[in-house]
Amino acid sequence: MNWRIKGLTQKVLSAAPGGIVLNTRMQAALGGLRNFDKAMAAKVDEWILSMKYLEAAGISVRGARILEIGTGWYPVLPICFVLAGAESVVTVDIVPHLTEAGMYRLLRTLEAHIPSIAEITGLTPAIISNRLELIVNQPNLAAILRSSGIEYRAPEDAGNIELEPNSIDIIYSNSVLEHVHRKALGDIMRESLRILKPGGIVMHNVACNDHYAHFDKSISYVNYLRYSEAKWRLWNNSLQFQNRLRASEFLQSAQDAGLEIIARRTHVSPGTHEAIRTMTIAPEFRGFSEADLVTTTIDFLARKGTGNEAS
Ligand SMILES: C[S@@+](CC[C@H](N)C(=O)[O-])C[C@H]1O[C@@H](n2cnc3c(N)ncnc32)[C@H](O)[C@@H]1O
Repeated sequence: MNWRIKGLTQKVLSAAPGGIVLNTRMQAALGGLRNFDKAMAAKVDEWILSMKYLEAAGISVRGARILEIGTGWYPVLPICFVLAGAESVVTVDIVPHLTEAGMYRLLRTLEAHIPSIAEITGLTPAIISNRLELIVNQPNLAAILRSSGIEYRAPEDAGNIELEPNSIDIIYSNSVLEHVHRKALGDIMRESLRILKPGGIVMHNVACNDHYAHFDKSISYVNYLRYSEAKWRLWNNSLQFQNRLRASEFLQSAQDAGLEIIARRTHVSPGTHEAIRTMTIAPEFRGFSEADLVTTTIDFLARKGTGNEAS
């Protein structure tokens, strides 16, 4: 589908009553969720990558209190963290997308991933299978959440969360920060600092690329950098808002809040260097380095100080 048609359709839906639900149905029929099992397998892989980042930083999820920003439709990562032994996961979303049917569908799909979940956690497949079975056998969504130690809060803004200061070990988001306004990003980082325990960690996986390129193969992952802010407003929409912030700006916003970056990994999608060199970039982006412009995903970890750091 041509990206402009998608953009305009989402713009119309975002203004229509029931537009959010209709957009979800269209995603299931025509969009990235057409192959549900494949989409869930990709989310499990993203969780495994997150586990590797945490392991490399010497952080264990066993017994951890975790906060997820941006639950979305299918809470693969919260369920996987629970299966791995997290004490609890609070997951917040500004829009209440989660449904009971969606949760059961996801849980049934996860059965195929028991071996890989077991492998990354160091637990036996039997333990993971028993934990999953206990959750799947619950009679409804509320019971599933209760039995798994997941607290789902929606609508709730991650920039203003009802949690005690110094109460959470790990805060993470997956494919969320590229969708929040610049000011909201700062609010989220400051709120994270407040809620984290001293020494606690934030981990964000950010797809800072043009999401219209995910289904329109005729454009590059940096196509949106052609447009001035005024022109981009015509193509942007509130159902899938894209802030176009570059990788360095996500790191900077964490640092501005007082978090210390401890790890980062960036990726450049094939063809992006060629695209950026041959297109006219909007004035807003001309001050960025080429490395920053072409970065299409950034994953990073940042730590809250303990107060005992050597100065
Ligand atoms: C692209 S979805 C990603 C969902 C999920 N993390 C995943 O990987 O499938 C982004 C989600 O972030 C949520 N979101 C956006 N801004 C938010 C905010 N300020 N606070 C909480 N959730 C937010 C959206 O409503 C949406 O559900």
